[in-house]
Amino acid sequence: MAYLDELFGLKGKTAFVTGGAQGIGKVVALGMARAGMDVAIVDINKEKAEETAHEVAACGVRSLALAADVTSVEDVDRMVEAVVGDFGRLDVAFNNAGIASNLPSESTPLADWKNVIEVNLIGVFLTARAAGRQMIAQGGGSIVNTASMSGHIVNRPQPQSAYNASKSGVIQLTKSLAVEWAPHKVRVNSISPGYIRTEMTVHVRRDWQDSWMAQSVTPVMGRPEDLVAGVLYFASDAAAFTTGADLVMDGGFTVV
Ligand SMILES: NC(=O)c1ccc[n+]([C@@H]2O[C@H](COP(=O)([O-])OP(=O)(O)OC[C@H]3O[C@@H](n4cnc5c(N)ncnc54)[C@H](O)[C@@H]3O)[C@@H](O)[C@H]2O)c1
Repeated sequence: MAYLDELFGLKGKTAFVTGGAQGIGKVVALGMARAGMDVAIVDINKEKAEETAHEVAACGVRSLALAADVTSVEDVDRMVEAVVGDFGRLDVAFNNAGIASNLPSESTPLADWKNVIEVNLIGVFLTARAAGRQMIAQGGGSIVNTASMSGHIVNRPQPQSAYNASKSGVIQLTKSLAVEWAPHKVRVNSISPGYIRTEMTVHVRRDWQDSWMAQSVTPVMGRPEDLVAGVLYFASDAAAFTTGADLVMDGGFTVV
């Protein structure tokens, strides 16, 4: 255990998690807390963020709940200021908030298409930008963005052109920031989950879910818990030589 603590060096690091109130963000935030990190839960849903922050604090680390819409420059900049004000520094940013939309492209209202891009791509840019400024000033840090296997393949049978475009954008944004900020010792990586059982997927039409399982070499949905170690790895000192990478965690869905 002592060897892993030393290898990963996560104890005492500080982080924020956007979309941290529930689903993947919540489970990863709790994983960070169990690894000894102080974690701020950032979400548009203040009440749920507070509940999750209490669970994080129960792990014996410092915790904060911050209401912020990742599409708002003011909210995001204020959020990073609050995290640094409370924790003293920002070592890790997990830019994970995201939404999905399954409208056919030919009848998608532009506002809906733009909204997905705003949250999933511009939201990641704004939170990465605010985190990056702080990390550059303090001499380094690690940013992890949540992309998706949808940034690599086109899901079937559900239509989701905005979602797919936003997630491939996150992968290329991640690489771009990794190159820009490497001289500042700020690493930027992304994860690309496959189908994970969360609020985002459980209410999807049954026949679509059946089709996903029929297409997958691992015919079960992943759990948010299956993603924790990947994010912790990117966050940690063990990944000191890894930047601009995307880790696909999809049960082999995109291999075939
Ligand atoms: N569940 C999956 O199968 C899956 C697969 C690949 C990628 N992802 C990605 O993982 C991330 C988390 O998804 P999840 O499955 O946990 O979904 P979720 O719906 O359970 O959680 C998303 C969280 O983001 C918050 N949020 C939404 N819009 C926000 C905004 N504008 N500002 C701040 N917070 C906002 C929500 O309140 C919620 O707490 C998303 O980026 C999603 O695209 C999910």
